[in-house]
Amino acid sequence: MPLLIDDASSQSCSLPEAIEALADLGFDPYDEGSTLEAAAWLKRLTNNREFLSRLLIDRLAGRVGGGSGMALESGYGPQAIVLSGLRGSMFLRANIWPAEQDLCFQTSGAANFVYGVPHDHNFSFLTSGYCGPGYRSDYFEYDYEEVVGYPGEPAGLRFIERSALHEGKLMLYRAHVDVHSQLPPEALSVSLNVMHVDPAQAWFDQYGFDLERGEISRVLSPNATEAFLRVAVANATDEALDYAEWVGAHHPSERLRLASYEARAALGDEAEQDALWRESEASGSRMVAAIATRRRAAITG
Ligand SMILES: [Fe+2]
Repeated sequence: MPLLIDDASSQSCSLPEAIEALADLGFDPYDEGSTLEAAAWLKRLTNNREFLSRLLIDRLAGRVGGGSGMALESGYGPQAIVLSGLRGSMFLRANIWPAEQDLCFQTSGAANFVYGVPHDHNFSFLTSGYCGPGYRSDYFEYDYEEVVGYPGEPAGLRFIERSALHEGKLMLYRAHVDVHSQLPPEALSVSLNVMHVDPAQAWFDQYGFDLERGEISRVLSPNATEAFLRVAVANATDEALDYAEWVGAHHPSERLRLASYEARAALGDEAEQDALWRESEASGSRMVAAIATRRRAAITG
């Protein structure tokens, strides 16, 4: 499960102070000293019982900012409130966790708040319980290096525990290690996150899991590059096909290699599809080969 960080400090700080300190620090979740220092700032912000309500009231009253120096636009829907822009390797956000009896839960449904959607993360982040009893999670761990990432692949999940992110609790979620399936809190709750941003993370997938079967169920992380490649290949220009052929054989991202084979297979008849998937079985990617074998079996019946 995520690493618990013990910090009993009662010091507090303002949102701008936390943003500046975390930006200067260059939060690195793989460095223990950096993680503890970032967690200390998150705890100080968590101890500030006023900043979030002030910021939300500013927004409701039509005054934006609330000390963050930015408007409260969120790219994550109504559940997430972005508290800072990207500063160095991090940004700050707050997450709202409605309880089952809350109206937004009843109107939007559990899945819109990622309840009951077991997943890992392709980024690390520090989190704190800011207010309320906190969302509950069933926590698991798995070995990312041991899976290749196709739907239906045994994930080797190890159950750790069920616990809640109660007020004042601090944790580090580790990219590609910690898996959780969240349950709504007993009452409306809010968590704060220091999100670590790594430019390479888009090339590493975030997975959804089927807990009953203990398998990877799907890839959750969006990848615009993959969509661009599929659109370009769908138009079947020589340039796009040449580029896609190179991607299929050589690109460091296995997911992009798979997208190349899928996009090109969609252009051909069954014999051409079979030939392409046969080629991909020898492409050097275990994930692509596993999917290719299934696709060939589906073609040949
Ligand atoms: Fe999560």
